[in-house]
Amino acid sequence: MFRNERELLIMDKVCGIVNEVLLRLSEMVKPGVSTLFLDKKAYEFCREYNAEPAFLGYSNYPATLCISINDEVVHGIPREDKVLKEGDIVSLDFGALKDGFYGDAAITLGVGKINYASQRLIETTKDCLKEAIKHCRVGNKLGMISSTIQKIAEKEGYSVIRDYVGHGIGTKLHEPPPVPNYGNEEEGPFLEEGMVLAIEPMVCEGGYEVEVDEDGWTVRTKDGKNSAHFECCVAITKEGPKILGSNII
Ligand code: MF3
Ligand code: CO
Repeated sequence: MFRNERELLIMDKVCGIVNEVLLRLSEMVKPGVSTLFLDKKAYEFCREYNAEPAFLGYSNYPATLCISINDEVVHGIPREDKVLKEGDIVSLDFGALKDGFYGDAAITLGVGKINYASQRLIETTKDCLKEAIKHCRVGNKLGMISSTIQKIAEKEGYSVIRDYVGHGIGTKLHEPPPVPNYGNEEEGPFLEEGMVLAIEPMVCEGGYEVEVDEDGWTVRTKDGKNSAHFECCVAITKEGPKILGSNII
C-alpha cells in the first residue's frame, strides 16, 4: 500500500501514458464518432506506449475504455451503435498497466457545443477533484478528500454517487483504502507518505440513485439526469500532493 521513490517513478510513467492517451482521444470526441471507434483507438495508443489496457478482461470487462454518456455515470461499454451527438457530455475512463504498476484516469468532455447546465456540471466536478487534491497531505484524514468533494458538489445543488468510490492503486488496479466522494472529514485512515489514491468524483445533476443496465456494467442515474466524472492518481509525499503523470484537469 506504500510506494517508495522508485515505485512512484514507475507510477508517474504509467499515469503519464494514461493521461496522454486520454488527451489524444479527447481530440477525437466529435459528433458522429462511435464509442467503439474511440475504444479501438485507445487500445492502439496504449500498445504504442508498450502498456497493457487495465480494464480489458478485468472481472470480464469487455473493452479498453469505459465511455459513459449523459445519464451514464461510469462503466459504459463502448459499442458501434453508440454514437456521440452534439450536446452530449461524455466521460472517458482509461487504465493501463506497465512495469507492474497501474494508472487510472478519467475526464468528462462536451461533444460539440453543450449547454450551460452541462458546462457547469463538468466544471464543478473538475473543481471537486482539484480541491480534494489539495488535501492530500500527510497527517490529514482521508475523510478530508471525501468531505471536500461532497461539499463542493452539494453547494452547487448536485449530488455525489454513493455506490461507487475511488480507491488506492499500485500493483493492483483497486487497492485499499476506498476513497468515497461523501462523508465526514474526521473519518477514514490518516494519509501517509507513499500512499497513492485514485480520486474520482462522480457528480449528478439530480439524485445519486443509480441502476445497472442489462449489459451488467453500464451504471446510469435512476432519474435520467446527467452525471460527470473525473479521476486522477495522486501520491501523498512529504512535499505535499503529487499528481502522477501530467495534470489533465
Ligand atoms: N476507472 C474505473 C475504476 O477505477 C474503471 C474500472 S472498471 C473496469 O474502477 F472493470 F472496467 F475495469
Ligand atoms: Co478508478
